[in-house]
Amino acid sequence: MRKKGSLKISHLTWGGIDCHELAARFGTPLYVFDTGIIRSRCRELRETFIDRWENTRVRYAGKAFLIRAMAKLIQDEGLGLDVVSLGELMTALSAGFPPERIEMNGNAKSHAEIEAAVNSRVGRIIIDHPDELMTIQNYAQKAGIVQRAMIRVAPGVDAHTHKYIATGSTDSKFGVPADPREGSMLTDTLKAARDCRNVEIRGLHFHVGSQLFETEDYTKSIEVILKLMKSLKDEWGFVTHELNMGGGFGAVINPSVPAMRSEFYTDPMMKALIEGCGAYGLEVPRAILEPGRWIISEAGITLYTVENVRELPEISYIAVDGGMSDNPRFALYQAEYNAVKISDINGKIYRPSNGGKVSIVGKCCESGDILIDDAKIQEVKAGDVIALFNTGAYTFSMSSNYNYLPRPAVVFVENGEAKIAAERQTMEDLMRGQVLLF
Ligand code: LLP
Repeated sequence: MRKKGSLKISHLTWGGIDCHELAARFGTPLYVFDTGIIRSRCRELRETFIDRWENTRVRYAGKAFLIRAMAKLIQDEGLGLDVVSLGELMTALSAGFPPERIEMNGNAKSHAEIEAAVNSRVGRIIIDHPDELMTIQNYAQKAGIVQRAMIRVAPGVDAHTHKYIATGSTDSKFGVPADPREGSMLTDTLKAARDCRNVEIRGLHFHVGSQLFETEDYTKSIEVILKLMKSLKDEWGFVTHELNMGGGFGAVINPSVPAMRSEFYTDPMMKALIEGCGAYGLEVPRAILEPGRWIISEAGITLYTVENVRELPEISYIAVDGGMSDNPRFALYQAEYNAVKISDINGKIYRPSNGGKVSIVGKCCESGDILIDDAKIQEVKAGDVIALFNTGAYTFSMSSNYNYLPRPAVVFVENGEAKIAAERQTMEDLMRGQVLLF
């Protein structure tokens, strides 16, 4: 059983602390992470992937949630890190993250980002566009090193997920098509790499999509990549020493439903890879994974204070003190969440007398500023605190200052102890850098 908020008492606790205490101490909106859950996810990946299969690595996808304390935790847990920008890279490095365990992704890396990645000696740069090759070569030559790299390919598989988070189709903006023919972006890059003495292409990378709940998208992609590996070896003499199979393991929305165990994904993936290599006469490459949300989503909850309740003839709105500025995922992907009133988690679900639905909405000036469209939650009034579950992934990292709302604080909790990991933005933070020109 995964550790969740205790159901013994009617108050919600997280990481062993009453959420009322958290709200009173740190204010709302508040991102709260149970680091015990994050650690147990990391441990599960070590047990079911790194320890079970030879020559494997895990790189946590920092885009899901990265602050310096998170980088430290990932480092302590023995995993590597996938970064996609100078900001993510600097966050990790400033936390003392070992650069050799960092890989840099990104479909439009700037020269400055590539320079920083090379100069800080990151373990791998994932080449997403052929132009990056020469840029890496130039900076690596200047630094007097050989930079290890991989090439991201689009396997041409349309993942079963929201179209905004499907990334593996041939017309994707990410990577180069998995095409081994003469003159393709991929083979032209491999040819050009032969003359780049300061770049070593170690293998291939794919990421088929996010929030996946079945394994077919992975196994289909692996089949495509194996064929590609075989052609690249036979026709171009290119050996794929490493294969990064991306992230995408799904995160559940209902706190009482545990996530898929990691081997649900990794066993079929590794079976497909190992058996396929056997069938094609290929050496099994090092297998790398880049999960983000599966590690972090369920560890996180967001606490909000109810500002008001508005009962209209056909719908009732519970309006809270945050919204799409701290969690834009309903607005972007119609993502679903569950919520409870923290003082009465086992209480009766509120049914408005008009029979209409209950929507939990934010305070931003948009009708689309919705957190839960059709919420099942206890009756609340202004001043009550509610918790949204499974908000650890892509909330803090996608937050904005829309309507000049300060970004909420992040608190890490474990075994009854709460520590601030990122402070709430202040009004000074919001004004910083603005010049009163007139
Ligand atoms: N690796 C690569 C190359 C990726 O592009 C991504 C996600 C991941 C790993 C991690 O995927 P995860 O395991 O977290 O699903 N903002 C969206 C998600 C965008 C994901 C983009 N890439 C959301 O809130 O659902």
